[in-house]
Amino acid sequence: MSRAAVIGAGTMGNGIAHVLAQHEWDVALVDSAPAALEKATSTIRTNLERQVKKGTLPAEAPAAILGRIHAGTGLEAVGEASLVVEAASESPAVKFALFEKIDRLAPAEAILASNTSSISITEIGARTGRPDRVIGMHFMNPVPVMQLVEVIRGHATSDATTATVMETARALGKTPVEVNDYPGFVSNRVLLPMINEAIFCVMEGVATPDAIDTVMKLGMAHPMGPLALADFIGLDVCLAILEVLHRGLGDDKYRAAPLLRRMVAAGDLGRKTGKGFYHYGAKG
Ligand code: NAI
Repeated sequence: MSRAAVIGAGTMGNGIAHVLAQHEWDVALVDSAPAALEKATSTIRTNLERQVKKGTLPAEAPAAILGRIHAGTGLEAVGEASLVVEAASESPAVKFALFEKIDRLAPAEAILASNTSSISITEIGARTGRPDRVIGMHFMNPVPVMQLVEVIRGHATSDATTATVMETARALGKTPVEVNDYPGFVSNRVLLPMINEAIFCVMEGVATPDAIDTVMKLGMAHPMGPLALADFIGLDVCLAILEVLHRGLGDDKYRAAPLLRRMVAAGDLGRKTGKGFYHYGAKG
């Protein structure tokens, strides 16, 4: 059996652990917050039961899958992993410190992947003694449902590491796409300027949020309008990624819309606070 470790059991970590365990990996799920581990385990159970109800998973599968996930707070659990996927909070300080520790604890041949949305894989790799084995594995939310894994090669990532990770993602039933390490990779570099432009349109009174989203849904066949998507991602996260693009690429075309800054300052962060470009009945 292959052994993986997933670091961070939040929104993304629970989904990554779920998909790995569903595909026969033995998974150590590590989080510094015990409450996050409890929540992740119950989320995975609920999502597996939903798959059984939909008929995409046999009734006996959830127990076996959950049995392959070992939750704990100790980072030493990476000691037996051939693949580590880090999905901890999106903070350079958190990720750099984690990779320094994981590098010391994980087997020398293990691949260390990060699910970061915007932090440089090259910089993360440089914190370790094995930058050739450090790579981005950027899963999309919700992980069990979304098809894409953006595989990001840092400056020193080897061909062999990339090939192994592409193959691993395929074996998880995903479609991996290889990209190079530049700010925002491809997904956020293309997505965030569109969201930002939609926010400028609201700010300048070009149209209402609902009208803008309807244009993009019915005119461009997007499943979700850019403003509803911004609320889903979180406006604070959108602003942070735009700042990475602006700073990293040095071009004012990535300047965050002042309305986005104002909404973040006001605490209107989208779905998670109940209010963003739309109102939501309940938080979450
Ligand atoms: P989250 O806030 O839901 O979960 C992060 C978890 O990391 C928390 O449970 C926290 O306790 C834990 N954590 C923080 N520091 C830790 C440490 N030193 N050791 C162990 N655990 C630690 O965050 P989310 O949304 O799951 O994001 C995780 C990563 O995935 C970030 O890098 C984010 O940019 C990326 N991402 C997020 C997406 C999303 O839609 N939420 C989409 C794609 C990537």
